[in-house]
Amino acid sequence: MEQYLKPSMEGGIFITFEGGEGCGKSSHIKALKEWFESRGFSCVITREPGGTPLAEKIRALLLERGSDEPMCALTELLLFEAARAQHVEALIRPALKAGKVVISDRFYDSTTAYQGAARALDPKTVALLNKVATSSLSPDLTIILDLPVAEGLARANLRDEGAADRMGSQSTDFYEAVRKAFLDLAKAEPERFRVVSSAGSKEETFNEILGVVRGKFGI
Ligand code: TMP
Repeated sequence: MEQYLKPSMEGGIFITFEGGEGCGKSSHIKALKEWFESRGFSCVITREPGGTPLAEKIRALLLERGSDEPMCALTELLLFEAARAQHVEALIRPALKAGKVVISDRFYDSTTAYQGAARALDPKTVALLNKVATSSLSPDLTIILDLPVAEGLARANLRDEGAADRMGSQSTDFYEAVRKAFLDLAKAEPERFRVVSSAGSKEETFNEILGVVRGKFGI
């Protein structure tokens, strides 16, 4: 394995990707895993909500559309946090302790943006629950893939063939609030966040992501 700066308190490297609907996180995450592995790193990719069998069951509840009983905003928040607690304890922390690179498609910043900003739940409650669910685990690097909302929704619509899940079926204003929240988070914590535009080609975006990762970890 190549030498690299080891910034995580847990032993490995923890990278998260965030962004609105249709911003292209999953294909870049797969490509980044291959890039790490080609350099001799052991790399795990995972996602939120989900990542373990139990957390994936909670994901299905959260994303199910057309249920007879509308989900309350607080229930939604607590389910995201329940899935996260399981994910951190059962998958992320053990992988980091084993010295692996863990790349997660979303983490607690999504809760800050979607449930805190867009659903307008109390930010202090959201911050506290994020802390409790992760037992204060924070990513070493968070990459926000930024895209105008209309473009992201059009891409997501193509990908899902018009059948968006519950969280993908909100109003345009909701996703504008999500986008603004991510950009505000990046301004407030510039050490951890990097904003990468995903408006260009896949190749351009991935090259920018690689530049960020190499610069941050000295790889
Ligand atoms: P995905 O479509 O990127 O897989 O994410 C699932 C949806 O769940 C997406 O619309 C974002 C939303 N979400 C939240 O609202 N809060 C959260 O904490 C997380 C992790 C995801």
